[in-house]
Amino acid sequence: MLCMDNSTPATELCTEEDVSHLVHGFYARVRADEVLGPIFDARIGDWDGHLAKLVDFWSSILRRTGRFSGAPMPRHAALPGLTAELFQRWLRLFHEVAAVQPNQAMAGQACAAAGRIAQSLWLGYQMQRDPDALPAALSDV
Ligand code: HEM
Repeated sequence: MLCMDNSTPATELCTEEDVSHLVHGFYARVRADEVLGPIFDARIGDWDGHLAKLVDFWSSILRRTGRFSGAPMPRHAALPGLTAELFQRWLRLFHEVAAVQPNQAMAGQACAAAGRIAQSLWLGYQMQRDPDALPAALSDV
């Protein structure tokens, strides 16, 4: 496992700048990825708006700012062709970018949260798409 979790209180964990650095670094990496990049580019017209939303999302999780008010589950359920491999790839890139963040306490918390959320999005995705099948968990997150 590349990332360490720890128990630093959220108020002391990171600054808004730390969050922004993580999110912008991660999505720059995603956009450059030959597999994930085209999936995002096909869907997202306004990257500045998307990045602002994702900074709010991660700020809510890591700094408890409560700024995010979106609907990740239905948004992902609407994307055709998602697979466990794509979620694992997303997480691998997230871990790579987290590993080079100056604030490693935040990076560890972010990795732990990303793993749990990816797991839940993937389970929800399978249940929406194929409610009669037994959903499978992501391995090793
Ligand atoms: C295979 C993996 C993933 C892919 C291909 C993917 C792709 C996308 C795309 C294309 C959108 C824009 C959807 C739209 O506005 O119509 C989106 C939104 C979003 N994604 Fe993902 N995503 C993945 C995994 C994740 C994970 C693991 C997280 C969180 C840890 C996450 C967090 C979000 C959030 C917060 C939004 C904004 C939702 C909203 O507008 O309410 N995504 N994603």
